[in-house]
Amino acid sequence: MLVFQSISKTFPSGISALENISFTVDKGEFIFLTGPSGAGKTTLMRLLTRNMDPSSGEILFQENNISTLKNQDLYKHKRQVGVVFQDYKLLYELNAWENIALALEILGKKESEIEQRVTDLLKLVNLTDKAFLFPSQLSGGEAQRISIARALASAPSMIFADEPTGNLDPENSLTIIKLLKKINELGTTVLVATHDQSLLDEFDKIRQIRLERGKIVKDTGANQPPAENVKAQNSNIKTKSEKPELETKKVKKDEAKKNNDKETEIEQEAQEKEEQKVKKPRISLPKIKLPFGKKKP
Ligand SMILES: Nc1ncnc2c1ncn2[C@@H]1O[C@H](COP(=O)(O)OP(=O)(O)OP(=O)(O)O)[C@@H](O)[C@H]1O
Ligand SMILES: [Mg+2]
Repeated sequence: MLVFQSISKTFPSGISALENISFTVDKGEFIFLTGPSGAGKTTLMRLLTRNMDPSSGEILFQENNISTLKNQDLYKHKRQVGVVFQDYKLLYELNAWENIALALEILGKKESEIEQRVTDLLKLVNLTDKAFLFPSQLSGGEAQRISIARALASAPSMIFADEPTGNLDPENSLTIIKLLKKINELGTTVLVATHDQSLLDEFDKIRQIRLERGKIVKDTGANQPPAENVKAQNSNIKTKSEKPELETKKVKKDEAKKNNDKETEIEQEAQEKEEQKVKKPRISLPKIKLPFGKKKP
């Protein structure tokens, strides 16, 4: 879904923020981007959202080289990557509902659609009862959950959260990561930039890409070079590790065919179909009933 291929970024001041970075993100992954201050995490996000261009290398997002996107395609790309910031960046003169709705109004959505979507998102972040409060009336954890709901408004396929827990206490930090995990389970790919070691320890099974001085020094999930991974994305076989399992099944099916064992053959086919169904990513958010007696204030 995302390929960073030999990306370097040097600013006009001569500072080199990223040096020859390569990694691949598959659809549906959850990744921590870690590293000390100044390592290049935010720079990487700005490149991904096309807020700036790399000095060299290519970024492929859903098979498009994002440096070449223009007009409608660039606009569409920006909608595909939702961003969450450490300081929330909510509009303080708008209430929680309106902060989320604004993103949809900008997209030109119909009022009924906006109402349903905002309702769903508030339910998802468990803040239905705080819908009409202003950011100054929300706790830090609540404000961050509203900013996550806003980032999801355009139904992006990826969320990049840049230090989303940087201003929060450990309990709220955990709530935010659990919420992002839930969003990930609903089908959105999630990248979280963080240097919170306690979170990394708590979620130690999650893939970590560690940057230091603009270079990748650790990637706990990288088991194949990007080019090969892109090829795998284009076929039904997603990763190397899944391949032997599929091959064993094929052998079993072929053997059954050879031995005229119709029952095993049918059983194998049914199992394959069932597995394909399960692997289909769920991308829609849960639909819920309007909790309010009134509409948007
Ligand atoms: N617009 C810019 N102009 C010049 N240098 C920049 C610019 N943006 C970032 N840098 C430099 O690039 C390097 C990487 O910065 P970046 O903000 O990506 O780090 P980071 O990993 O996000 O750090 P932090 O954890 O503190 O947020 C730093 O040395 C920084 O000073
Ligand atoms: Mg940063």
